[in-house]
Amino acid sequence: MVDAAALKRPVLILGGTGDARLLVEQLTQAGHRDVRLSLAGATRAPTLPDRGSVRIGGFGGAQGLADYLIGEQIALLIDATHPYAAQITAHAHAAAQHTKLPLLRLNRPPWVPHTDDHWISATDHLQAASLMPSHARRIFLSIGRKEVAAYANCADRWFLIRSIEPPDPDTTPARHRWISARGPFDMAAETMLMRAQQIDCLVTKNSGGKATYGKIAAARTLGLPVVMIARPAEPQADAHAETVADALAWVARQLRSSA
Ligand SMILES: NC(=O)c1ccc[n+]([C@@H]2O[C@H](COP(=O)([O-])OP(=O)(O)OC[C@H]3O[C@@H](n4cnc5c(N)ncnc54)[C@H](OP(=O)(O)O)[C@@H]3O)[C@@H](O)[C@H]2O)c1
Repeated sequence: MVDAAALKRPVLILGGTGDARLLVEQLTQAGHRDVRLSLAGATRAPTLPDRGSVRIGGFGGAQGLADYLIGEQIALLIDATHPYAAQITAHAHAAAQHTKLPLLRLNRPPWVPHTDDHWISATDHLQAASLMPSHARRIFLSIGRKEVAAYANCADRWFLIRSIEPPDPDTTPARHRWISARGPFDMAAETMLMRAQQIDCLVTKNSGGKATYGKIAAARTLGLPVVMIARPAEPQADAHAETVADALAWVARQLRSSA
């Protein structure tokens, strides 16, 4: 349990994930008076935590983030951003080093393939576009809207594109259908969607966690190949947690050692 009396200065949580939201709620519930969730502002109507406060928008690079940490007298920095948000993670690392602030990286472990999965590993989206099996004609792109442009030249394929916000029409593959949806997605619904759309290949990031695992399980059930985009490399943080519970324990340890 976090000692509420010790929690006087703000904790900043870089978010954009369900785990970040949960962590803000649980730290606030544990007695911390000033827990701030930071969002990039990429989604127009983000799901917000029930407790804590929210700030929205970039900081202006690593130096901007360092200035914010100093100016706001932040006590602890937690990078709970998505595993593919490489830029903000690099900025958090640089800003923590510059300010000598304790930094925790909260990052869900990646999914691992089962023996009956057929995964094709790609280092990035351009490689993924070239690695889709030649027989695959109807591709489910479950990758977010910004990366869709890498598939724009695949004129001989049809794409089902799912994202919260619409992709840029100028760089979207010519033959596609876009659906707007926000997770979680369960296996039964994902199987139904892939069957209805006659999908023969899934392209996805390795986000980890349960909320979006349904598509992986559905692809296995349907015997479909999965082109899996590898996670980007990131700087080695001094402290690392894979779960919200581990992150809460880290905060408690930091407070004990600074008391
Ligand atoms: N990439 C994904 O696949 C994905 C999936 C789900 C959710 N998200 C969430 O969406 C956000 C944007 O993702 P991205 O891949 O575009 O990030 P990114 O490439 O790593 O970051 C781009 C810029 O956006 C700003 N930014 C990113 N996250 C921020 C945050 N939590 N608070 C304040 N500013 C933030 C920073 O601007 P400044 O340099 O001006 O500070 C950063 O330099 C992230 O917060 C991430 O957690 C990303």
